[in-house]
Amino acid sequence: KAMEIVKEFEESCRTPISKLKQVADAMTVEMHAGLASEGGSKLKMLITYVDSLPTGNEKGLFYALDLGGTNFRVLRVLLGGKDGGILKQQFKEVSIPPNKMTGSSAELFDYIAAELAKFVAQEEDDFKPTSGRLRELGFTFSFPVMQTSIASGTLLRWTKGFSIDETVGQDVVAELTKALERQGLEMRVSALVNDTVGTLAGGKYANNDVVVSVILGTGSNAAYVERAQAIPKWHGLLPKSGEMVINMEWGNFRSSHLPLTEYDQALDAESLNPGEQIYEKVISGMYLGEIFRRVLCRMAEEAFFGDVVPPKLKEPFILGTPVMSAMHHDTSPDLKVVANNLKDILEISNTSLKMRKVIVQFCDIVATRGARLSAAGLLGILKKMGRDTIKEGEKQKTVIAMDGGLYEHYEEYRNSLENCLKELLGEEVCKTIKIEHSNDGSGIGAALLAASHSQYLEDES
Ligand code: BG6
Ligand code: GLC
Repeated sequence: KAMEIVKEFEESCRTPISKLKQVADAMTVEMHAGLASEGGSKLKMLITYVDSLPTGNEKGLFYALDLGGTNFRVLRVLLGGKDGGILKQQFKEVSIPPNKMTGSSAELFDYIAAELAKFVAQEEDDFKPTSGRLRELGFTFSFPVMQTSIASGTLLRWTKGFSIDETVGQDVVAELTKALERQGLEMRVSALVNDTVGTLAGGKYANNDVVVSVILGTGSNAAYVERAQAIPKWHGLLPKSGEMVINMEWGNFRSSHLPLTEYDQALDAESLNPGEQIYEKVISGMYLGEIFRRVLCRMAEEAFFGDVVPPKLKEPFILGTPVMSAMHHDTSPDLKVVANNLKDILEISNTSLKMRKVIVQFCDIVATRGARLSAAGLLGILKKMGRDTIKEGEKQKTVIAMDGGLYEHYEEYRNSLENCLKELLGEEVCKTIKIEHSNDGSGIGAALLAASHSQYLEDES
């Protein structure tokens, strides 16, 4: 029976190219629908008010605060202006205590404001803003936000491991500003951005061909540069650039073509946000380890680990994606890493090599499905942008800025994504498309956007 489960699971997670193409087409269709009207699609296709990306002329000292991944970061950068680049940068990374993710709004914002205040207090003499000026901040807030301007927007809902009802519908910049005031810190939020938008801006600063960004971390999402005229729901003035960055919130994509299993359904039903973020729940770091745990649990019910189901295996989220990745990459002949993790985390000992091989096979099935589905999503975006084919006489290059712990650390996932994209696009087109790791680009990107929206811009020119 246990071996039947393996076969069934493998079968229901299959992602042949034909299916991936259907997923990509569905993504393109939903993109159009989300751009056409508010609520027109599961894809929110949020307008970011970022109508121009960094040019390299950004100048001065700016702060950034980055909330929404596994860690929360604060940083300050000194931008050198034309051809100057980044002259200096310092950052601090702090983990967010889980109770802050589900407590009260004030508690969360007070916590991040206090960390920022500590960081500001450590400014060195050659790393201070021009005297008499307020410190300006780019706020990377990696959740779906309906922006009302470049520096304001209300939270539509929480995603990933966060859930604080009272924040929903509030302006997150106002929440942060109030918390900063409680810390006695006067600072101006000049730009509010999603992490994908920050990554896009940081990526563009490093490489002018960047037009798409993807986060594959705890959660997953993408942003890209759209023609303003292709956004029917935008009733504002047409930006001078003719462009607008769109935060897709692709994590909430769903389609009947997604190969979902009973384990995905149960995971979703028991999650903090049932029925939402379905695509995110099959491709991103917060969930891969949990899907893996659920399949192992089912195996255990069929006596795979002996007569009783190991109690630890019943604990949701006990198997994080980093552990799954370590098992998946185990190259030792007797799969020692797998054995050790089973023992240390799940208190399961005495597994045979054959059992450990089956466990690695599960990691492979779950990670491969996620990676190939994210490649399909990416193809959907390239199609929408008309960059999935080579046009006669055009030498257009497309660079995709990527970031997030999953992409950075899970090699099998990364390789599988990249190989799949090649398969989907074909060798020739693939030569014009490049994925670049934009390490920590979103913080820098937020600081750059704070610079280009600085209230002192007039004084500089
Ligand atoms: C970081 C970015 O590198 O990656 C963040 O600076 C982003 O803005 C994060 O949210 C996502 O990765 P993870 O793995 O921490 O969710
Ligand atoms: C979740 C958030 C989204 C964010 C992504 C990556 O999907 O809703 O805003 O960009 O995670 O951090």
